[in-house]
Amino acid sequence: MKGGPIRAAFFYRLSIERRSHQRRERRTFTSHSSGPEGQPNKNLIETIIKTLDPDRPEASAIQAAAKVILDGGLVAFPTETVYGLGADAMNERAVRRIFEAKGRPADNPVIVHVSSREMLARVVVEITPAARRLISTFWPGPLTLVLERRPELAGSVSAGLSTVAVRMPANTIALELIKAADTPIAAPSANASGRPSPTKAEHVAEDLSGQIEMLLDAGPTQIGIESTVLDLTSDPPAILRPGWITREMISGVIGSLSAAEGEALAHSPGTRYQHYNPKARVILVERDARRSAIDVVRDFKSEMKVGFIGYSQLEPDLKEVEYISIEDDAEKYARAIYAALRSLDEKKAAIIVVEGIADAGGGDAVMDRLRRAATTIISA
Ligand code: TXA
Ligand code: MG
Repeated sequence: MKGGPIRAAFFYRLSIERRSHQRRERRTFTSHSSGPEGQPNKNLIETIIKTLDPDRPEASAIQAAAKVILDGGLVAFPTETVYGLGADAMNERAVRRIFEAKGRPADNPVIVHVSSREMLARVVVEITPAARRLISTFWPGPLTLVLERRPELAGSVSAGLSTVAVRMPANTIALELIKAADTPIAAPSANASGRPSPTKAEHVAEDLSGQIEMLLDAGPTQIGIESTVLDLTSDPPAILRPGWITREMISGVIGSLSAAEGEALAHSPGTRYQHYNPKARVILVERDARRSAIDVVRDFKSEMKVGFIGYSQLEPDLKEVEYISIEDDAEKYARAIYAALRSLDEKKAAIIVVEGIADAGGGDAVMDRLRRAATTIISA
């Protein structure tokens, strides 16, 4: 590595890899150019990265992670949606550390993860009949329910609200970790606040290494976008954040829902903030736009470095464009979109043009994230 002042302007990373028969463990410290001569900050901590088999995680690694949680530390772990940044939801100091590590505004509450109905009863006042029906249909899975909270929960989990958002993740590592710790785990997405959610452990390390005690790496997550958030304390219930469990799927179980969604609802704290923003300017070309995404790429490509995420083929005159191809399919988009945005940032694209998909069957949840990430939206 080169020395001198230039070095300080870049990420500084120290990584030692340790292997022993089946176990892989790495230790990293990362600082964002703040230490003298690029050295890590004094307040950085060692982040232990454990690589696990997603289906049969090593029991000793789960135990070690559970101990970190019970000691008030932070563990990033995979869920079926995105990686979460976990702390003991009953420990106020531990939960506050989540906000510090992410740079998350204190008035944006976090989701609590449970591994059983018994544990759910420790965090909510009442499991309402609607909650009961939704839980038997969709848990474990990507549906978060907002219910009245119990006072024993750490206050900052709810950011001053009388409610808590809770879900049971459909992921072996997440469930085993919660079981082993035997405490509900508060976990927002494990990204620095405002950045795209992490779908790979590498994304978590990019944003948070040196600030968390442990990262459980089990490869890419399956769904790729965050859970649906449903408020069951309002009448009728309201979708605060669309996700893979759709409005139709929910109303099929509990009947009609509020027509207002997400941004339209004042009591949806998370929607006030900038979300999913890569460093580049993002231009979203909606499905029904008059101009094609390719034409928009062509507008910019001679002036700056352009990235393109979409399903249309690039013509030969656009070969210098950084192209990430995703099939025109909601599931494929959900799984790949955040990694694609991060990767084009890494390639220093000044502009990222994204080709929109249809607003149906989970596509609406993907488009919700893209509309929030976009600096400009081109529509009909
Ligand atoms: O899939 C997911 O939900 C991931 C994984 C890790 O489980 N978690 C996640 O958490 O996306 P986070 O904190 O990034 O997003 C939580 C969303 C925010 O929009 C927040 O405002 C909302 O849920 N939320 C949390 N508690 C709430 C509450 N009590 N009332 C209303 N909204 C709440
Ligand atoms: Mg988030």
